Amino acid sequence: MAKNVLLTGGSGFIGKHLTEALIAGGFSVSVLSRSERKDTSLITYYKWDLKNNFIDEQAVLNADYIIHLAGEGIVEKRWTEKRKKDILESRVKPIELIYSVLKKNNKILDAFVSASAIGIYGANTTQEICSENDAPANDFLGITCQKWESAVDKIDSLGIRTVKIRTGIVIGKDEGFLKKIAPSFKIGFGTIIGSGKQYLPWIHIEDLSQIYLKALIDTKMTGPYNAAITDNTTNAKFSRILAHLYGYKIWLPKVPAFVIKLALGEMSIAILEGKRVSSEKIQKEGYEFQFTDIETAISNSLS
Ligand SMILES: NC(=O)c1ccc[n+]([C@@H]2O[C@H](COP(=O)([O-])OP(=O)(O)OC[C@H]3O[C@@H](n4cnc5c(N)ncnc54)[C@H](OP(=O)(O)O)[C@@H]3O)[C@@H](O)[C@H]2O)c1
Repeated sequence: MAKNVLLTGGSGFIGKHLTEALIAGGFSVSVLSRSERKDTSLITYYKWDLKNNFIDEQAVLNADYIIHLAGEGIVEKRWTEKRKKDILESRVKPIELIYSVLKKNNKILDAFVSASAIGIYGANTTQEICSENDAPANDFLGITCQKWESAVDKIDSLGIRTVKIRTGIVIGKDEGFLKKIAPSFKIGFGTIIGSGKQYLPWIHIEDLSQIYLKALIDTKMTGPYNAAITDNTTNAKFSRILAHLYGYKIWLPKVPAFVIKLALGEMSIAILEGKRVSSEKIQKEGYEFQFTDIETAISNSLS
């Protein structure tokens, strides 16, 4: 019988692609969602309500693996104190609920794999290339990712293999980062943000889905893994390539950093700054990236 993978946040950008990859890989897929959804021939839906600490326990009891992707969008809205709390709680609380079901039922999974983010290393632009051994940063994203990953360690304490995928900016068709920035480039008004020197550690959605699949089946994998290409893509490089693919050269001046700061407040750091990360650990584990060239990854993802 096919092994069952339960996805939290399975209805989102990464979840939808991962669902396809899991089904193609011979797994059966279940999804925990806040909304009532109808089962399909391929996906079983379960409901949870984090505000009221409700989870359909059967979702966890039927699972061989869990992949945790759920969480409020990090750069969707201004980081007010309430928004910051929601961003953190929407990632940590689901893990705590799942932990309580596992513990109560003495249920052991084959593996628990959680999203995390390269934001754990902090955002400030430096020449440093961060690896999994580096200490978490002390800014909002660094602290959030640290607490998110610490919650995963509770699952680990039950004797379950856990893997944390520290994800870079995911490139995929009509979704995520490209969905936000491509429209202005498409009509000829795209330009460089801030200094343009901030690194933009990226990964193509197909590679990310395959890394999640590998994390499920490769029992050697444990702990954190960076999932981003180690290259020299900056905001300026990315913007120039995107404009070129739409057939023009950037003609507008850069958007000054102070404008972004005024518009976005503290969240502007996620756009104006960016660090490189090393992908050596996942590559040493045997993963070969399909997309290593940023222009190919973007052109593959434009509709
Ligand atoms: N996309 C990227 O570039 C990127 C980069 C680094 C890290 N990540 C991380 O990877 C994970 C998945 O990313 P994604 O791009 O697929 O995100 P997404 O498209 O925004 O999907 C996230 C899913 O999480 C669920 N969700 C949203 N708010 C929630 C809340 N308050 N409580 C519980 N569930 C909630 C939603 O599912 P339901 O509506 O069905 O409940 C939603 O479909 C996230 O944790 C994200 O931080 C993504």
